[in-house]
Amino acid sequence: MAKQYSIDPAGKKHLLPTEQDYKKEFSSLKKIAAKQRAKGREIVVVMGVGFVGAVMAAIVADTEDKKGNPSKFVIGMQRPSTRSFWKIDYLNRGVSPVKSEDPEVDVMIDRCVNEKKTLMATFTYDVLSLADVVVVDVQCDYLKESLGDVKTGSADIAALENALEIIASHIQAQALVLIETTVPPGTTEQIAFPIMSKVFRKRGLKSDPLLAHSYERVMPGKNYVASIRDFWRVCSGVNEKAKKRVKKFLTEVLNTEQFPLTVLDKPIESETAKIIENSYRATILAFLDEWSLFAERNGVDLLKVINAIKMRPTHNNMIFPGPGIGGYCLPKDGGLGVWAYKHILGFDDKIFKITPQAIDINDTRGLHAAQLVRDALRNMGRPIAAAEVHVLGISYREDVGDTRYSGSEVMVRRLSEMGAEPKVHDPYVKHWLELEKQDTYPSPTHSKKKFFRNQEKLKNINVEKDLFQSLKGADALVFAVRHQAYLSLDPAKVVKAAGSPLAIIDCFGILDDQTITRYFELGCEVKGMGRGHISRIKRAVRAAKLRQKK
Ligand SMILES: NC(=O)c1ccc[n+]([C@@H]2O[C@H](COP(=O)([O-])OP(=O)(O)OC[C@H]3O[C@@H](n4cnc5c(N)ncnc54)[C@H](O)[C@@H]3O)[C@@H](O)[C@H]2O)c1
Repeated sequence: MAKQYSIDPAGKKHLLPTEQDYKKEFSSLKKIAAKQRAKGREIVVVMGVGFVGAVMAAIVADTEDKKGNPSKFVIGMQRPSTRSFWKIDYLNRGVSPVKSEDPEVDVMIDRCVNEKKTLMATFTYDVLSLADVVVVDVQCDYLKESLGDVKTGSADIAALENALEIIASHIQAQALVLIETTVPPGTTEQIAFPIMSKVFRKRGLKSDPLLAHSYERVMPGKNYVASIRDFWRVCSGVNEKAKKRVKKFLTEVLNTEQFPLTVLDKPIESETAKIIENSYRATILAFLDEWSLFAERNGVDLLKVINAIKMRPTHNNMIFPGPGIGGYCLPKDGGLGVWAYKHILGFDDKIFKITPQAIDINDTRGLHAAQLVRDALRNMGRPIAAAEVHVLGISYREDVGDTRYSGSEVMVRRLSEMGAEPKVHDPYVKHWLELEKQDTYPSPTHSKKKFFRNQEKLKNINVEKDLFQSLKGADALVFAVRHQAYLSLDPAKVVKAAGSPLAIIDCFGILDDQTITRYFELGCEVKGMGRGHISRIKRAVRAAKLRQKK
C-alpha cells in the first residue's frame, strides 16, 4: 500500500503510523502513565485535539493541587487521519495545533509539554485503557443538503457513535467519560449510554459506564483560554456517581471558585442548554435581518437605531448582523436540536419554527451582500461580470482568523457565480481553506461549493497580504468584517490605490457618516447592509457639488 501522509499548515509531510508503530507507541505510553501515576497524578485522555480539545487538554495539564504541584497528566488522542495526524507531532513538540489570537494558548501548551511535562499526544486508541478520565472533544457536524433550508439536513452522528464504541471497548470500568462535544439533545442517555453499556456487557463488566456531559462555551479570539477556564460551566451525569465525578473533575481543572458550576439533573438538560443558548443568539441576529432590509428601503440607519436601543440595559446584547452569521456553532446547533426531536426522541410534529428559520436567514444573508455589490456597480455603469471585487475580511467575526461558515464565503461564492473576480484580504488568515481546498474541506460532501455554479476558479484564490497594493484596478471594495485594521481606512488612500473611484459596500456598520460622505465626494458609489440613510448622504453630496458649480 502506498505510504500515506498528513500535511501540516506549514506544508511538512507527516508519515501516518504503521501497525508496528502502534505496538511501540502503546508500550511506551504504558511506562509513561505508570510513572505519572506514581507521582500521584490522574491520567486524563482528551479525545480529539481540534479547536476545543487542544486548549482544553492544556488547561487540564496546567492544573495544580493546593501545594502547587501538577495533579493531572494529559494525553491528547487524535485519530491518525490525513487531515489531522500532524496535530500530534505539533503537540508533542509543544506547538499549538490551533492558531489563536490569544497569546496564552501557545505559552500554555509550550509550558505544559516542555516545562511541566504534563501534556503529550498520541494516535492510538489503546491509550484509553490508561485513563482515569476521558474528555470527548470530537466534532459532531450537521450536514446541510440545501442552502437556506436547515431542516433538510441531518446530524452526522455516526462518527460520534463509533468513537463511543471504541471508548467503551478500551476504558477501565471506573473511568469517567465526559462528553464535551455539542450533541443533539438525548445523545448522552439515549445513544452513548446504550452503546457503551452493550460493549461493557460484552466485556463482562458489571457496572454502568460513568458518563457525563458538559458543553464548551469557547470563544475564538483574544480570550480563548479564559473562555474555557475562567467561565461558567454547566454539567450533568447519567447517575449520581457520574454527576459527583464530573463535578469533582471540573472543579479541579476550571476556575469554578469565581465562575461557579451549574449541575443539572440530567444530561439532556445540559445538552439542551447548549442548543438553546446558541439558538437564542442565532435568533436575535436573524431577527434583525428583516429590519436591516426595512432600514435599507426606508432611509433608516440600522446601526444608529441599534445603538439607541442598546442604551436600554435590558436590550444591550443586540448586535448588528454582518453579511451572515458564521463560526462553527451558531449555523448548526439549532439543527442538531430539531433533528434530535424527531430522530432521537421520536416526535413527528413540527414544533420548531423559529429555530430553523433563524439559521436559514443567517445562512443566506451573504447573498444579499452580493446583491448590494451588484447594485452599487450597476449605479456606476459597470456590470458585475468580470468586475474585480475586493473583500476585506473572510473570518466569521472581528479580529479572529476562524473562517468556518463565514458570511464572506457565501457572498464570495455568489459573486463568483455572477461572474465577478473576487480578491480577498484578511490580516488573520493565511489560507482560505474553504475555497482553496473546496473539494476536500471541510469534507468532500460538506463544502458550500455544491450550492453554487462557477466555483472552480475560487481554488486559486490568494489571501492578499498588502491591502493597498492589491487594490490596484479594483471595481468594488466590500467591508465584510469589523477587523481593527479596517475601521479607519482613509478614503482618499483607498481611491488612490484603486486608481479610480470604485463601489464601496459596507456590510458591518463599519463606515461612519463622515467617511461615507468622503467616498461620495471622491466619486465613489456607496451601499451598506441596513444603512438606508446612505442615499440621503449621496443626495447631500450631489447637492453640494451642484452648488459649487453654480
Ligand atoms: N470551535 C468552537 O468555537 C466551539 C465552541 C463551542 C463548542 N464547540 C464544540 O466542541 C466540539 C469540538 O469542536 P472543535 O471546534 O474542536 O472541532 P475540530 O474539528 O476542530 O476538532 C475535532 C477533532 O477531533 C478529532 N476526531 C474526530 N473523531 C475522532 C476520533 N474518533 N478519535 C480521535 N479524534 C477524533 C478530529 O480529527 C479533530 O482534530 C464540537 O462539538 C463543537 O460544536 C466548538
